[in-house]
Amino acid sequence: MDPTPRCDAQLAAARARVRALVSAALEQGAPTAWFDELYREAAGDAARVPWADLVPNAALAAWTARPEALAGVRTAVVVGCGLGHDAEHLASLGLEVTAFDVSEHAIRWARTLHGGTRVRYEVADLFALPSAWRGAFDLVVEVDTWQALPRAVRAAAVAATRALLAPGGRLFVFARLRDDGPGAPPMDERRDGPPWPLGHGELARAVDGLTPVLPFRATPDAADPSIVRGLGVWRRT
Ligand SMILES: C[S@@+](CC[C@H](N)C(=O)[O-])C[C@H]1O[C@@H](n2cnc3c(N)ncnc32)[C@H](O)[C@@H]1O
Repeated sequence: MDPTPRCDAQLAAARARVRALVSAALEQGAPTAWFDELYREAAGDAARVPWADLVPNAALAAWTARPEALAGVRTAVVVGCGLGHDAEHLASLGLEVTAFDVSEHAIRWARTLHGGTRVRYEVADLFALPSAWRGAFDLVVEVDTWQALPRAVRAAAVAATRALLAPGGRLFVFARLRDDGPGAPPMDERRDGPPWPLGHGELARAVDGLTPVLPFRATPDAADPSIVRGLGVWRRT
């Protein structure tokens, strides 16, 4: 399937709407409240959701195409699954997939988009997940969700994501990155996002104690090298 066709003006409008919703949500101290509002307002038009490409993440697709990637993996969970294309990709590879999002409208939309799906789509909040999900998944997929959450809740988001890993389970992370070393400009949350890229140090702390499986790679965007994306896979021992 082709990515969502949209023109620059549509993307700019979608991003402007996100900024307005986020700024209200931050004022109210409710950092995840705006997602459902955005999906609701989009009313089935994916061009109004800036990250909704309607295709699986290319890095996830490339990694899962490696013969060793999914060896021993039976169950997977997709964190902040949005419209579900990463989840559907994993299900197409034969995995038993749970995909959750805090937004009811996103989950309803995903179920409609992928009628007859084998994916178990659930409305669930990363910060209050069912206890049965703790340590239950051989593969945990995080694509662009941590970076959509403000710093105040980010460590909690990382901890909740890691808690989903079964012993020996793999964590796939794809996210924008920023320099957070000495001398790097501080991030201004109200001006600079979302997304709020993860600092390299922050990412290192997020995967501390896990064993690297796929060496971490940071790649500048071909069209805009100021945007750097990173991906890596780690294993819980
Ligand atoms: C930037 S979007 C990325 C969506 C999807 N992973 C993708 O790559 O298209 C972040 C997603 O995380 C979801 N989300 C945000 N906070 C969440 C939370 N606390 N629990 C579960 N999902 C959350 C949002 O509703 C949104 O769908």
